[in-house]
Amino acid sequence: MSAAQDTAERHILVSREGAVQIVRFNRPDKKNAITRAMYAVLAGALADGEADDAVRCHVILGQPGAFTSGNDLADFLAFATTGEMGTEVLDLLRLLPKLEKPVVSGVDGLAIGIGTTLHLHCDLTFATPRSVFKTPFVDLALVAEAGSSMLVPAITGHQRAFALLAMCEDFSGDQAADAGLIWKVVPEDDLERAVMDAAKVLAAKPPKALALTKRLMKGDTTALEARIAEEADLFAAQLKSDEARQAFMAFMARKK
Ligand code: COA
Repeated sequence: MSAAQDTAERHILVSREGAVQIVRFNRPDKKNAITRAMYAVLAGALADGEADDAVRCHVILGQPGAFTSGNDLADFLAFATTGEMGTEVLDLLRLLPKLEKPVVSGVDGLAIGIGTTLHLHCDLTFATPRSVFKTPFVDLALVAEAGSSMLVPAITGHQRAFALLAMCEDFSGDQAADAGLIWKVVPEDDLERAVMDAAKVLAAKPPKALALTKRLMKGDTTALEARIAEEADLFAAQLKSDEARQAFMAFMARKK
């Protein structure tokens, strides 16, 4: 196992509770920023859970105060300067619309970038009142990803989608729930219990009927998959732009 993979496996914890597989972001010192290697571990865990008959439901969790601060900006800067991106992010984004088993997620605190868009591919998301959903793609000179340019307007209507994706406004837990982006707001102390209770209910349902119902509700995902690919091409081109490089360097400089 490479050192990067070993580190990523500490930063993404995978566990089981009965028929529920739990994937947890565990890089609290970086607010759970997601590296390329972490994307690979996350996608691998979800794919393994899909393939394993003993798993009936996926759960995705973060840490108190941070679901995730989104893509690791050091990785973005590395790509902007070297052009070396890898396939890890896109591999995960391509997998998300294909998940047949239910996905329940729980958010407390920061849910930035993919920390927001990931939930568009979940079936039930619980969040705490202090959660902050934010997609700062445009402020970083990037574009919406994970199919969010199609899914968010469809869920919320154009203007709320524009506020989220183009204005890069913060949405609180309540605003995200009002907009239909998540299922429910619960107090911090109840978050993980609410997530696990829902996951266990789903895990006990007839799996085929549940998977068929999810597939019917999601419908034909061809257009969504095409949009994810189109966004990814534009995202990669923008990553190499001067305006994006400046935005990443400004974040890095901010730390000193
Ligand atoms: N990529 C890399 N490192 C990140 C990160 C990210 N997305 N988000 C946070 N970190 C790191 C910080 O650099 C800092 O590291 P350091 O302690 O080594 O200096 C550490 O995590 C804590 O972050 P900090 O900024 O000190 O915490 P904060 O509470 O003041 O702010 C955020 C938290 C998330 C609001 C802020 O870190 C931020 O804006 N991050 C970038 C979010 C982003 O643009 N993500 C990409 C979306 S596409």
